[in-house]
Amino acid sequence: MSCSKGFKICSVTAILLLILLAALLLVLFFTVFKPKDPHIILKSVKLQGFKLETPTLKLNVSLGIVITVENPNHGSFTYHNNTAHLYHGETLVAEAPLREDTIPARRDHNITTSLSIFADVAKLKDLSSDYSRGVINFTSSVTLLGKVKVVNLFKMKATSFCTCYISLFVPHKSIDSICNSKIKL
Ligand SMILES: *[C@@H]1O[C@H](CO)[C@@H](O)[C@H](O)[C@H]1NC(C)=O
Ligand SMILES: *[C@@H]1O[C@H](CO)[C@@H](O)[C@H](O)[C@H]1NC(C)=O
Ligand SMILES: *[C@@H]1O[C@H](CO)[C@@H](O)[C@H](O)[C@H]1NC(C)=O
Ligand SMILES: *[C@@H]1O[C@H](CO)[C@@H](O)[C@H](O)[C@H]1NC(C)=O
Repeated sequence: MSCSKGFKICSVTAILLLILLAALLLVLFFTVFKPKDPHIILKSVKLQGFKLETPTLKLNVSLGIVITVENPNHGSFTYHNNTAHLYHGETLVAEAPLREDTIPARRDHNITTSLSIFADVAKLKDLSSDYSRGVINFTSSVTLLGKVKVVNLFKMKATSFCTCYISLFVPHKSIDSICNSKIKL
């Protein structure tokens, strides 16, 4: 009698514990894995090389770039090699290779790259009118494929979509940028 009662209490306790554990995992899953979008800031841009080839009017410029990524998530993000593209209007004007890297959890991380601009000035009619207006706008986008890892325990495939709007103020030789990024599991 007491034995079967004890058994009952035991199994009820075990079931309650299992439910509690499941609830805990669910809460953990949604708090840890519900990713917050990283914050991306274009930190510095340095002119590395400049050449205007004549008479073809091909621009060959390379810019050294530092991008700071603020990762608010508990997971680190490891991504594969890819290339960021820079557009002026609809025209591809520059490329920057992004080397495979890991952005650590809850930390800032710098990414350095070199942006190669290879515009054909003769074909970019808007460029000269933008130039005379004093602001040249660019958009840049990149999709990074990789993995999110939480304390060596959970690993998930993730994709990060980043878009930046960059304005070059010609008279001040300064750059302003706004970046949006989304991370999807
Ligand atoms: C641009 O210039 C660099 C050297 O400054 C050169 O290595 C590269 O081939 C040039 N690119 C083009 C498309 O002309
Ligand atoms: C990524 O790019 C770097 C440098 O360009 C290269 O050394 C490396 O092998 C590449 N990795 C993969 C997986 O392709
Ligand atoms: C990233 O680069 C900026 C500017 O170049 C520097 O101030 C900052 O300390 C760097 N951060 C890290 C984590 O290396
Ligand atoms: C350039 O971008 C800025 C800020 O995004 C915007 O206010 C401005 O109208 C844009 N200029 C042109 C010529 O598209």
